[in-house]
Amino acid sequence: MRVARIRRSFARDRVEFLDASGEPSNDENVASDEFEKAAIEKLLRGEAFVDEVITVKGNPYLRAATPIPVAHKKCVLCHENYAAAKEFQPIGALVYTVPIEWSHRRVTRLAGPH
Ligand code: HEC
Repeated sequence: MRVARIRRSFARDRVEFLDASGEPSNDENVASDEFEKAAIEKLLRGEAFVDEVITVKGNPYLRAATPIPVAHKKCVLCHENYAAAKEFQPIGALVYTVPIEWSHRRVTRLAGPH
């Protein structure tokens, strides 16, 4: 199951916009694997950045998560549940999945061999 999901979801670079409030606007925007679930717990405990390198079929990927606080009062217009959030408390997370080899090749191409 996990392998099938990873194969699909790691087909290309990815940034996800996930809920950390427990009440997502879209039920699809929730943590759906071990990294995402653990990352959201850590962000809620106050960590500013969570990352991990994983390997899928021999290819390394950086997975990283950063918190999203209620950045503007107007967020509450659509997300009523955010009204209860304390200042700087994460109500969401951005989760990045970046193929490391690809990034290295691209950097080498842009910067020249080093
Ligand atoms: C005009 C209405 C509106 C406003 C204003 C708004 N959002 Fe959203 N937000 C949505 C909708 C609708 C979704 C679900 C999008 C989808 O279908 O994936 C969403 C999704 C999200 C998600 C992903 C988790 C979830 O609930 O589905 C986060 C996190 C989020 N919004 C944060 C914010 C923040 C922070 C602000 C203020 C800076 C904000 N939103 C302002 C309508 C809004």
